[in-house]
Amino acid sequence: MAYQWDSSLETGYEQVDNQHKQLVAAVNKLMEASQNGEGDSAVMQTLDFLTGYTIKHFADEEKLQKQFNYPDYLNHKRIHDDFKVTVGNLTQRLIKEGPSPVLVNEASSAIGGWLLNHIKGDDFRMAAFIKAADTKRQ
Ligand SMILES: [Fe+2]
Repeated sequence: MAYQWDSSLETGYEQVDNQHKQLVAAVNKLMEASQNGEGDSAVMQTLDFLTGYTIKHFADEEKLQKQFNYPDYLNHKRIHDDFKVTVGNLTQRLIKEGPSPVLVNEASSAIGGWLLNHIKGDDFRMAAFIKAADTKRQ
């Protein structure tokens, strides 16, 4: 089932929220490509986009944290790095075993579930700090 974006996922920091929306949409596209039987290469393309966008998003978030001297930066970056390894492993499995609907479902649920959890926990804490710091700067 597709992931729904709603206000419970909004950190209130627009740049971060916009990218999170794109990520959720990219997970849904991966699931849809598989469920609609669009073919292995189309499925792998949506996975490539999701992976690339995840890496870009993490880099942008880390840059923002550094810019505002976020005290939990190192921990947050480690969490991102660990997840990049997880996504890399899932990708390797999909390449090796082929993107069967069962495996794609497993991978997209793992990625989607992790993302929503990370947004509501680590990213909410980060955004609260950055919003406060940002207001002080103006
Ligand atoms: Fe994050």
